[in-house]
Amino acid sequence: MTHRLLNAFTLAGALALAATAASADEPGPGGTRPVVPKTGEEVYRTVCQACHMADAKGAQGAGAFPALAGNPRLAAAAYPIVMIERGKAGMPSFSDMLTPAQVAEVVGYIRTHFGNAYADPVTEADVLKFAPKTSR
Ligand code: HEC
Repeated sequence: MTHRLLNAFTLAGALALAATAASADEPGPGGTRPVVPKTGEEVYRTVCQACHMADAKGAQGAGAFPALAGNPRLAAAAYPIVMIERGKAGMPSFSDMLTPAQVAEVVGYIRTHFGNAYADPVTEADVLKFAPKTSR
């Protein structure tokens, strides 16, 4: 289970680097620059699935990773937003790593996939309401 956490944090580092690299003036396609996840699905695959699994059904082992699939707690967008921005116990805060736009995308994605059907849109402004003051 530890390796899963490590994977997530290694990815976290790669993402932070990717964000830095994106601002550099580098040639486009064909370069070695890592891809910065943009859509909710890309953010999920890059960051969240290391713990919550590709099918979002979570995992039980040395740690407990709750299922996001069919999860009624996602009915209110604020719940996953707060979780991602602030973290809780084994769930790291991603406020320094993901932009409000990326958080809005991934929250929209998990709320409309994996058996969840909460279609109301999630915006950057919704995310910023719950971002820790230090990251604004
Ligand atoms: C390093 C592992 C890890 C990563 C990466 C991770 N999570 Fe979590 N997540 C957890 C753990 C552990 C919990 C349970 C926290 C608790 O309540 O103690 C959790 C809880 C949650 C919950 C609340 C579920 C519930 O039923 O209460 C949501 C929503 C969530 N995560 C979404 C995400 C999203 C979206 C991402 C990607 C941006 C993500 N997580 C990335 C470990 C992770």
